[in-house]
Amino acid sequence: MSDTRDLCPRPTHLPRQPQAGSRPAIELAVVYPAASPAEADARLGGLEPGYVYQRDAHPNADDLARRCGELHQAERTAITSCGMSALALATLALLRTGDHVIVSSLMYGKNIALLTSEAERLGIRSTVVDTTDLAATAGALEPGTRLLVCETISNPLMRVANLPELASLATKQGAALLVDNTFASPIVCRPLEWGADLVMESMTKIMNGHSDAMLGMLAGSAKHWERIHRTLTTWGLAAAPFDCWLVDRGLGTLHLRVVTASRTAETLARRLADCHSISAVHYPGLPSHPDHELANGLFAKESSRALFGHMLAFELRGGLGAAERLISRLQHIHFCPSLGELATTLSHPASTSHRGLTPAARKALGIGDGLIRLSVGLESPEFLENELFSALRTLDAE
Ligand SMILES: Cc1ncc(COP(=O)(O)O)c(C=O)c1O
Repeated sequence: MSDTRDLCPRPTHLPRQPQAGSRPAIELAVVYPAASPAEADARLGGLEPGYVYQRDAHPNADDLARRCGELHQAERTAITSCGMSALALATLALLRTGDHVIVSSLMYGKNIALLTSEAERLGIRSTVVDTTDLAATAGALEPGTRLLVCETISNPLMRVANLPELASLATKQGAALLVDNTFASPIVCRPLEWGADLVMESMTKIMNGHSDAMLGMLAGSAKHWERIHRTLTTWGLAAAPFDCWLVDRGLGTLHLRVVTASRTAETLARRLADCHSISAVHYPGLPSHPDHELANGLFAKESSRALFGHMLAFELRGGLGAAERLISRLQHIHFCPSLGELATTLSHPASTSHRGLTPAARKALGIGDGLIRLSVGLESPEFLENELFSALRTLDAE
């Protein structure tokens, strides 16, 4: 019998370089053998194709980056472990102590926290401003401003960023415009085409669409890439192969999912606007929305009609009590504080994404205690209307 110390689980086949199959394989190997130090050096330096170490690069992230790059028409794309690490990547790569960043007040709360209180610990200064107010945004620019960050469609009131104007303000100041495109997806909007330097997405949401993987993406012009690549690999922000594989599979149906959910969201928004127990509906596809014309110009057209996305919000006249009653009376639409799933879900911003703000601060942003945010999925409009309106009618009757 051989010495048991020699029976370690050494693979009989060393991890191979990937081969083309009808579906990409999940390449879990952490390390790839090289024939010589020169070969490893050439691969790590990007002079030869091939992989060395998973944190630096791996086939599943590269496959996904290629597809995301095509969707956004980006020169370069990086895949990260989640949406927050995509923003961390941009922040760490582009900013240094003493720099100034302009942060849209309309963004996801954790995006704001990363760019203000967290970045401040690194000596990065920030100004939070309502980026739909272009004069206020211009007034917030300083000689040291290096980055302006906003969301294409804001959370939860679905305000739309004037990307060409914001890009021109940033450029005049020598700053980069970074746009979080999570709510829109590249099917609805491609911020790079409107002058943004960088676009990021939480691919945990509609890009994957199945709510079973966390991933982020940062894409943009090649001029930032040396820094971005170094930061990605050094700070260890890379994504795992299985998550990349899952999201890559999700992308296959992205177009169908976004178009279907956007059209259903539009139908629901129109119907909800007529409902007695609702005081306001926030959806850029409604002519009453303050950014309707802007969105109509910026967003992609499908059969000659713009797509306005799968997210909408509505304010219940009855405040928190009405929100609680609505949530408890819905059978099929679950209260899940995320978005972009196959099934329609809802969230209550005052108790989830915006719970860190005082009621007065929420009110100043237009977020009432009765605000419900809906992530529209792939069910038929009739099914969703029936589900929502049977619960809403009980509120109307109260
Ligand atoms: C607009 C937006 N950006 C970024 C993120 C962060 O993404 P992740 O949860 O993948 O880190 C979220 C998460 O909800 C989000 O809604």
